[in-house]
Amino acid sequence: MKGIILAGGKGTRLYPMTKAVSKQLLPIYDKPLIYYPLSILLLSSIKDILIISTPEDIPAYKKLLGNGQTIGTSITYKIQDSPCGLADAFILGETFIGDDNVCLILGDNVFYGQDMTSILRKTMDRIKGATIFGYPVKDARAFGVVEFDKDKRVISIEEKPQFPKSNYAIPGLYFYDNRVIEIAKDVKPSARGEIEISSVNNVYLEMNELHVELLGRGMAWLDTGSPEGILKASEYVEAVQSRQGFYISCIEEIAWRRGFITTEQLTIIGENLKMTEYGKYILSLAKEGK
Ligand code: TTP
Repeated sequence: MKGIILAGGKGTRLYPMTKAVSKQLLPIYDKPLIYYPLSILLLSSIKDILIISTPEDIPAYKKLLGNGQTIGTSITYKIQDSPCGLADAFILGETFIGDDNVCLILGDNVFYGQDMTSILRKTMDRIKGATIFGYPVKDARAFGVVEFDKDKRVISIEEKPQFPKSNYAIPGLYFYDNRVIEIAKDVKPSARGEIEISSVNNVYLEMNELHVELLGRGMAWLDTGSPEGILKASEYVEAVQSRQGFYISCIEEIAWRRGFITTEQLTIIGENLKMTEYGKYILSLAKEGK
């Protein structure tokens, strides 16, 4: 399974913050936003990762994450010249995906919760078809909304419906088999000129191969598209970390727990960051052991 993080876009709702800086490099409390979706790929044991972003922003991502070796992964990069839609990821990523299946996560999606790992594992075991997720929201009108039967097979997907058929919004995390590349190539741009992910999902739906995994109330899916969302997500991360002492989306910790890096490698990373609480946390993990 390959992993793609879509980290381009214009971030216009966050102007002027994002006029000179990519949205996914903004801080959510103590770490850049992209650490959060990256940690979901690592939790899924995905080590081969492609980051797609704008020509201006790719150098900054390279500075931050390099080739991924320090966390035991391979990270490569691909330019998206203009934000022409989420499904463009599979066209840009064709060579990278090769014959594999692929997980796409949007660079501005933050997930946290106890069940995440088991849900991801269950999804990874399903090799054929596509899996999207459903997250209960109070008002689903602003989202893609999924309607499903008792076997969790999807009946319909609607974009920003006035009268939602369920209260389950579709977050920016998707798993596909290899057919997604050809399916994405066939998608015609929508009225707003984008190659829509919902068009891809509708093809899987017509083939009766679109599954939905429901995320429960114990799970947080946080919005980071607006200044208020950034602040609230930061407060959430700070509250959990200071109360529990466990860090949310510490990529080095996950890489170590997954066995991608050794305790010695973790110690070196911690030493280099020991002037920060983040570095001290990493050093404490290395000292205590798994
Ligand atoms: P959006 O929130 O739809 O767009 P945006 O980030 O540019 O924000 P705004 O609405 O404020 O202008 O994008 C969702 C995520 O997907 C975000 O992380 C950016 C990314 N994205 C791309 O990388 N390429 C694309 O073609 C699109 C449409 C989005």
